[in-house]
Amino acid sequence: MEENQKIRILVGGGAGYIGSALVPVLLEHGYDVTVIDLLWFGNHLPKEVTVIQKDLFDCKAEEMKGYDQFIFLAGLSNDPMAEFSPAKNFIYNAALPAYLAFEAKKAGIKRFIYASSCSVYGYTVNQLYDENAPVTCEYPYGISKLQGERGVFQMHDNSFSCIALRQGTVVGYSPRMRFDLIINTMFKSCMIDGKITINNPSIWRPVYDIRDAVSAYIRALQADYSLNGIFNVTSGNYTVGQVGDFVQQQVEKRQNRKIKLDIKNIQDFRNYKVSIEKAKTLLGFQPQFSITETIDNLFDHLDEISDFGNDMYYNINVFKKLKI
Ligand SMILES: NC(=O)c1ccc[n+]([C@@H]2O[C@H](COP(=O)([O-])OP(=O)(O)OC[C@H]3O[C@@H](n4cnc5c(N)ncnc54)[C@H](O)[C@@H]3O)[C@@H](O)[C@H]2O)c1
Repeated sequence: MEENQKIRILVGGGAGYIGSALVPVLLEHGYDVTVIDLLWFGNHLPKEVTVIQKDLFDCKAEEMKGYDQFIFLAGLSNDPMAEFSPAKNFIYNAALPAYLAFEAKKAGIKRFIYASSCSVYGYTVNQLYDENAPVTCEYPYGISKLQGERGVFQMHDNSFSCIALRQGTVVGYSPRMRFDLIINTMFKSCMIDGKITINNPSIWRPVYDIRDAVSAYIRALQADYSLNGIFNVTSGNYTVGQVGDFVQQQVEKRQNRKIKLDIKNIQDFRNYKVSIEKAKTLLGFQPQFSITETIDNLFDHLDEISDFGNDMYYNINVFKKLKI
């Protein structure tokens, strides 16, 4: 597949945190991009992108005709939102991708790329999980992301390629910024309070620089249509204690001041580390960014993100106000 062909991409939920970093790169690669999004967090996309503000449940096969690939980035994107509104969580995260894959296939779209999550793995101990490992999550967000995957793959056949990217926690700068994600939260706390709170230092998390996340979507779009499947994708596996140390060291180095660590021992229901060998081998995915580079990237955009208290940066705060 040539990168500069005018392949037409429909991005559902493309105005969010990941979409706002991904869409400009899709344009650079010469793709013709349309975004459909409810704009819960506003529109931070380049002006040349067609953005249709509406619920994806109102998107039918007729208007998907002529597109080559669909990228699903919508739904409720973290545990607090899912716990605040469990019914809406299952509707938007489980039913919506299934519905859209059904309509997309009817429209003749050739591939559906689904933004899944490593949170489907739940609580694991001392094991590196590949895509065949048991999915043991017992909380609404993880279950709904898993159900979304299953709904999409139900549509898979020789004419309809399905790729699910089980993403680690995405971090770093996006024009639609979030400060409710592990490193971004720690960075914000350093800037505001000069300290990092570690709720549980022994918990494992796959941490995924947003630029690596963007590269995985590009690899998925460019893959031969015969490629299907579920792929773990992340930049690296770290304990939360390790992440805190990296953030502390880099902020101290950049700002020449002391950052305190506040270590707690709060029980967490998520603990996992994942193998990305399948994505490396079959998609050609190769993560590039370390935690230090993620922090440097946040410093590079500090002027754009100085208003750390703004509700806009915290999904649950915006979601509560939406009253849906
Ligand atoms: N950010 C992460 O760390 C992470 C990790 C793993 C998986 N994911 C998944 O990746 C996807 C994108 O994450 P994000 O961080 O960019 O989320 P986000 O919350 O920033 O963006 C989601 C976007 O979807 C839109 N949306 C939601 N429901 C919609 C609907 N019914 N119709 C139209 N638009 C709708 C919202 O307006 C918003 O712009 C989500 O599916 C999330 O579950 C994210």
